[in-house]
Order: sequence, then C-alpha cells, then structure tokens
Amino acid sequence: MPEHTSSAPRWQHQVHWPTTAHTTAFGRHLAAFLRAGDLIVLTGDLGAGKTTLTQGIGAGLGVRGRISSPTFIIARTHRSTGQGPHLVHVDAYRLHTLAEIDDLDLDTALEESVLVVEWGAGLVEGLAEDRLEITIHRQRGAGGDVGEQPRTATLSGYGIRWAGVEPRELTALARDTQAPAPPGQDAPPSGSNSREPGDQAARAGERPERAR
Ligand SMILES: Nc1ncnc2c1ncn2[C@@H]1O[C@H](COP(=O)(O)OP(=O)(O)O)[C@@H](O)[C@H]1O
Ligand SMILES: [Mg+2]
Repeated sequence: MPEHTSSAPRWQHQVHWPTTAHTTAFGRHLAAFLRAGDLIVLTGDLGAGKTTLTQGIGAGLGVRGRISSPTFIIARTHRSTGQGPHLVHVDAYRLHTLAEIDDLDLDTALEESVLVVEWGAGLVEGLAEDRLEITIHRQRGAGGDVGEQPRTATLSGYGIRWAGVEPRELTALARDTQAPAPPGQDAPPSGSNSREPGDQAARAGERPERAR
C-alpha cells in the first residue's frame, strides 16, 4: 500500500442533484472520467444516495449485474461487458479494521477495476495513492424521508490523478444532469471539447448502457 496518501484535496467542488434520476445521471457521466485503478470513497448517511450514485457509475461503465446494497455481501465485482474497467462495489459499513480491508484483496482488484467504497472514509484511503471522495448531504425536514429530495454532494479530488481533472468539467457534468438525457444520448457532441474526458464519454457511450 502506498504510504504517501494525500491528506489535503487538490480541489473541492459542490454539485446538486434534485432527484434520484439526477444522482444516477451524474454517476453515469462521471463514469466517462474513470479508469482502472480509480478509488472512489462515498460518504453520507443511510439513504443519502451512495448506492444510487454507484448504480449510475455502473451503468456508465457498462458492467453486469444489479448494483444493490446487500446486507451480507461486503464486496461485489461487476464485470465489464466491454473493454472498460470492471466495477468493484464495497459496502464497508460493517468493516472496522485495516486487517478486514486487507482480507478483501482490493488492491489486486484495483489493477483492472474502478473501486467504489461506501462507508470507506477513514478505512480505505491507503488502497490507492489518489482518490475521489464524494460526500452526499440530504436536506432534512423537507417533506420527510419518502419520495424525491434534493441532494448536495461535495466532490474532493486527492492526488495527482484528480489534480489532472478540471473541476469545472465536473460542474459541466452537474449541469448536464439537470436534464437527464435518455440512455445513449448523454455523451457530449464529438469535437465540442478537446479534452480527454469528452473522448472517454464518447467511448463510454458506445458501451452497453445496462447489464443484461
Ligand atoms: N436526489 C436524490 N438522490 C439520490 N437518491 C434519492 C434522491 N431523492 C430521493 N432518493 C432516494 O433515496 C434513496 C437512496 O438510497 P441509497 O442510494 O441506497 O442510499 P445509501 O446507499 O446512501 O444508503 C433511494 O431510494 C432514492 O430513490
Ligand atoms: Mg448503500
């Protein structure tokens, strides 16, 4: 495990997700930025939307299997249906020690996967040199816990990997998610942006949107 895990984020950025569909759409767009070895740490109360966001990431990566919050399964690998990275989805709620994390062999999995860890803050940072942290806040007191409620998320990019991503591009993603496009139409028009993530978005759009 790398010892020089970054302690201060290179940047922080806020995004707003008015409904479940916006949260999922953001995940789908974010997937276009992701590659094997990326670690994403998700923080937020129960019901905040961590799994919902992961479902969007999985759809964007084009991986197999339903992404859920299983009670007893801690880590699940969703294999790519195409050439892209697999998704390893971890719910670390019941994990408390580094030894338990080590037992999952997640550093091996990271070599060919994107690793998304719910409840991973304070536990899994040592698995990679860099990470994207996403902390989801639910606005309370606005109509109870049922139905659609806006979420605010703070994205924090740690390390060189995320210093290389322009947070304003993530703002653009957030704007995109104000009006979720039907599957297959969410990639930016080709040539609209010369930066690599746009290219990645186009490639992600070629992959199957959904697992069988
Ligand atoms: N804006 C929103 N973003 C994400 N989820 C939302 C939103 N509004 C309502 N929800 C609902 O909140 C629940 C979030 O559940 P889940 O993603 O499993 O949370 P967590 O994994 O953080 O415990 C889902 O039922 C989802 O439909
Ligand atoms: Mg969950």
